[in-house]
Amino acid sequence: MIAFENVAYSYGGGDLLADVSLRLAPGSFHFLTGPSGSGKSTFLKLAYAELLPSSGQVMLFDRNVTSLSRDDVARTRRRIGVVHQDCKFLDHLSLAANMALPFTVSDRESAPQDMVDLLGWVGLSHLSGALPPQLSGGERQRAALARAVIVDPDVILADEPTGNVDWEMSLRILTLLVELNRMGKTILVATHDLNLIRQAKAQIQARVLRIAKHRIQLAGADL
Ligand SMILES: Nc1ncnc2c1ncn2[C@@H]1O[C@H](COP(=O)(O)OP(=O)(O)OP(=O)(O)O)[C@@H](O)[C@H]1O
Ligand SMILES: [Mg+2]
Repeated sequence: MIAFENVAYSYGGGDLLADVSLRLAPGSFHFLTGPSGSGKSTFLKLAYAELLPSSGQVMLFDRNVTSLSRDDVARTRRRIGVVHQDCKFLDHLSLAANMALPFTVSDRESAPQDMVDLLGWVGLSHLSGALPPQLSGGERQRAALARAVIVDPDVILADEPTGNVDWEMSLRILTLLVELNRMGKTILVATHDLNLIRQAKAQIQARVLRIAKHRIQLAGADL
């Protein structure tokens, strides 16, 4: 589904990531941990072709990202839902209008009912008319997750989806991610939160990737 083969990435200094080879199998659930600045967000950007590797190969759905045309990249991105670390919204549009944005540029029709269902699923039906700046941190995080899911992607990449929210809200967001995984979606969650990972491991088979010294390794069961 998503495969890295000997990937290195550098923003211009030395390699931030080096020698990264891994594969996210369909239906798998992975966490990505590592210190602040170690390259978690960068890894996610490589995984949805926002960045291209400095060397090595990133394969998305069996195609090398460097061979994708702009249209191919757009099509591929529709299969990957991303929850960004900073939850960007268009602040002058209602939550519902923000959610509907992918449908104004894609060819799918059935937005409205999906949108109502999804807002209900994340517990935000009552806020569909609110403007993003009026939402709390946890509401924004849940809205960002709903927005990532609305085009029915195969893969969900979530960058610190529980940053800035309390434990109860973190568990709620985790439950949503676990539900998506049970529906067959491939999930990768970048997080600092080891308690969240422990909690997830009690519910599903999740593997943990750790960035250390520019490399990404599967962590053992020692969390
Ligand atoms: N566009 C950029 N240009 C130059 N350097 C960058 C850029 N984006 C990130 N970096 C640097 O790359 C390193 C890794 O950043 P990244 O955002 O991937 O880390 P992270 O593991 O997600 O950190 P955090 O846990 O704080 O979110 C940092 O040192 C950062 O300053
Ligand atoms: Mg980050």
